[in-house]
Amino acid sequence: MHHFTNVTDIGPLDLAVKEALEIKANRFGFKELGRDKTLMMIFFNSSLRTRLSTQKAAMNLGMNVIVLDVNQGAWKLETERGVIMDGDKAEHLLEAIPVMGSYCDIIGVRSFAGLKDKAEDYEERVINQFIRYSGRPVFSMEAATRHPLQSFADLITIEEFKTKERPKVVMTWAPHPRALPQAVPNSFAEWMNATDYEFVITHPEGYELAPEFVGKARVEYDQRKALEGADFVYAKNWSAYADPNYGKILSTDRAWTVDSEKMALTDNAFFMHCLPVRRNMIVTDDVIESDRSIVIPEAANREISAQVVIKRLLEGLK
Ligand code: CP
Repeated sequence: MHHFTNVTDIGPLDLAVKEALEIKANRFGFKELGRDKTLMMIFFNSSLRTRLSTQKAAMNLGMNVIVLDVNQGAWKLETERGVIMDGDKAEHLLEAIPVMGSYCDIIGVRSFAGLKDKAEDYEERVINQFIRYSGRPVFSMEAATRHPLQSFADLITIEEFKTKERPKVVMTWAPHPRALPQAVPNSFAEWMNATDYEFVITHPEGYELAPEFVGKARVEYDQRKALEGADFVYAKNWSAYADPNYGKILSTDRAWTVDSEKMALTDNAFFMHCLPVRRNMIVTDDVIESDRSIVIPEAANREISAQVVIKRLLEGLK
């Protein structure tokens, strides 16, 4: 594997999950692979899980790790070509990227959508510039339109907890006070559509995701109907994708909050969320604290998904 930005980069999912479970059972078994190799993790946005789990995964593989928070301690970076740089941005990404590449073997990048210009976000300008100019294998630690390490961890978690060959997985929109990107729901949909699970997306009208991510999923505007018989409930907020409302909040209706009455409609479903989660907006305290909530093992699997991806990138260096 040379880069990792979406589901197709990982190849057959059954093999990826098998490798993940093998690594989980023996996470220090490949320590020689990363010896004298350096991972650089570059954050344009805040993170708890991605930062810690990815660093831990690299350390499990014997790597050295450098972490750069671009907005704390680095020069402010210009990302547009043609700009007269007479403002507060001291360095251009086009010099910064190859310089960063010269100090490491593999690069992980986190960069969120701006939610102002849909075309710019969906071009994935930042991570694509790293792929083009760094000279290194690059993996996404969440980009403007996808969060593949999260979705891979979600898949591993579902495979571990499922009791049916073909579970019903329902991704439900839930309210949030701030405008959030579509990266997590896009990516989750992309990965679920690559399985043979029954996959349903439910959201208020106006929150339709891009058709290429919805794919073969059934879209159901009635949340209660969607949740009937579900084996997994995956809650997430996202801002509007469709024009003219791209990046906007259309609703904060707490009638969409996942509560115990909604969970009672399911087939004793497991509750999932990528975290961080706003309690009593996205999900009630009792649901997230219930014995059917698997948000902590889901987050723990971020270490495993990252380790599979970094291991494969290291193997690709040879
Ligand atoms: N789920 C996730 O990516 O969490 P962080 O934003 O804390 O990394």
